[in-house]
Amino acid sequence: MVRIAVVGSGPSGVYTAQALLDQHPGAELRVDVLDRLPCPYGLVRYGVAPDHQKIKSLQATLRRVLEDPRVRFLGNVPVGADGVRAERLRALYGAVVYCVGAARDRRLGIPGEELAGSWSATDFVSWYSGHPDAPRLELPGHTRSAVVIGAGNVALDVARMLARTAAELRSTDVPPPVLAALADSAVRSVHLVGRRGPSQARFTTKELRELGTLAEAEVVVDAAELAADPDGAEPASLGANARRNLAALSAWADAPPRGRARRIAPRFFLRPVELLDDGAGAVRAVRFERTAGIGGGRVTDTGEQVEIEAQLVLRSVGYQGVALDGLPFDPERGVVPHAAGRVLRGGDVAPGEYVAGWIKRGPTGVIGSNRPCGKETATSVLADLPALPAAPAADPLAALRAAGADPVEWPGWLGIEAAEAALGRTLSRGPVKIADWPTLLRAAGDTTGGRP
Ligand SMILES: Cc1cc2nc3c(=O)[nH]c(=O)nc-3n(C[C@H](O)[C@H](O)[C@H](O)COP(=O)(O)OP(=O)(O)OC[C@H]3O[C@@H](n4cnc5c(N)ncnc54)[C@H](O)[C@@H]3O)c2cc1C
Ligand SMILES: NC(=O)c1ccc[n+]([C@@H]2O[C@H](COP(=O)([O-])OP(=O)(O)OC[C@H]3O[C@@H](n4cnc5c(N)ncnc54)[C@H](OP(=O)(O)O)[C@@H]3O)[C@@H](O)[C@H]2O)c1
Repeated sequence: MVRIAVVGSGPSGVYTAQALLDQHPGAELRVDVLDRLPCPYGLVRYGVAPDHQKIKSLQATLRRVLEDPRVRFLGNVPVGADGVRAERLRALYGAVVYCVGAARDRRLGIPGEELAGSWSATDFVSWYSGHPDAPRLELPGHTRSAVVIGAGNVALDVARMLARTAAELRSTDVPPPVLAALADSAVRSVHLVGRRGPSQARFTTKELRELGTLAEAEVVVDAAELAADPDGAEPASLGANARRNLAALSAWADAPPRGRARRIAPRFFLRPVELLDDGAGAVRAVRFERTAGIGGGRVTDTGEQVEIEAQLVLRSVGYQGVALDGLPFDPERGVVPHAAGRVLRGGDVAPGEYVAGWIKRGPTGVIGSNRPCGKETATSVLADLPALPAAPAADPLAALRAAGADPVEWPGWLGIEAAEAALGRTLSRGPVKIADWPTLLRAAGDTTGGRP
């Protein structure tokens, strides 16, 4: 028997498990996919926006892997300082692949970041996704204007979620308190602010265009900021996505106002300098330095300061990896050093330890990018296995329990799914996320599949 542990059940963990199965078709291979949460799928469940059900449906593909008879899902098993130690895990399995993602937000490092009303997009996303560790967001009644800092796809997600109507959100799986808060929200202006020009925005065009399809929102683009982009004047030097983004933004800049109640305003060439205090410890505005494009995607400060009023600020400037106790870590890049997925300790390969996904490559790339990444790591694992010491023959489950873990296995996850569907039925909605640990674990303990 060859037993491999994959830590993390997000796309990279599941794609790695799939590649291991594909490349090692023998029945003697067993893959345990561990996750600190009782629910699988990582950011596909807790990151992909709730109004993107088509992308969420990728869970069905990941599910097929986790239901393979050679794979076992073990949720509610944290690995690291607060759970099963890395050394212990290494002793229990022939190889361990860490696919733990990049869970933390990058900081802006400017004054006022800690004011009330200033949120990382990471926390905001976790909140609307019903992550059981998410802080509770409140949107006080005076919150009429929001600034989203950053020009990536996560910034688009959070701006869109703020601008959706209650009716649009009802058809998603957002937890009831989230639906209530967003439905009652007084936010009418959402400013989506990039520090460089429109040509440098990291939005993908499909997601950018989607802003124009919301029920009650209109997109307002400042033609002067588009015209100020020297790179936009030379479209041949740009990639296809940037050219399409510019076309979408230009169409909005040229369009007459539609008189919609909500506005999303993509803004450019504004570098955040400070979040301003309203005198009571809450944010009232963001101060920016206006930048100017100098070609090649670079900008320089102009000395002009611009303030945008905001009672809510969502800082969406990227994610970063977190060091896992017992694993080497490159704090600069927020990744585990590796060679083709093999963990490097002090430059040398650490036998039997591997990485895949965002903790290997850094926090960029779509779900599909994790497939070749997992495949590369799986290839390294299987090439090394013959030379690695054999793992103990015993099933590691008892040892994991002895190490303090209380795993939620696949039937437990099915119990959670059934409970979420049942909760949705009581609210005349589709499945609705359960967002707290006790209820999740209670549901996981009910393995009757929702039957009385
Ligand atoms: C907000 C957001 C929205 C996105 N939307 C899209 C989209 O619409 N389409 C798209 O293609 N891509 C999207 N992406 C990108 C996509 O989600 C990532 O490419 C992908 O999730 C990265 O996979 P991963 O497995 O490396 O990490 P993750 O998906 O983060 O999975 C990591 C898993 O490891 C577990 N874990 C972490 N630490 C431990 C530990 N110590 N012990 C045990 N388990 C642990 C976590 O609970 C989690 O389940 C989005 C990303 C974000 C941030
Ligand atoms: N629907 C989808 O397919 C989808 C949805 C969500 C996420 N994703 C993917 O998930 C990954 C992560 O997305 P992301 O949006 O978090 O990251 P991202 O694409 O890296 O975008 C981060 C943004 O933050 C800006 N930024 C960084 N530091 C800043 C600072 N100090 N001040 C101001 N702005 C700053 C960056 O500007 P600069 O360019 O100037 O550095 C960039 O605009 C991406 O690969 C994304 O495509 C995909």
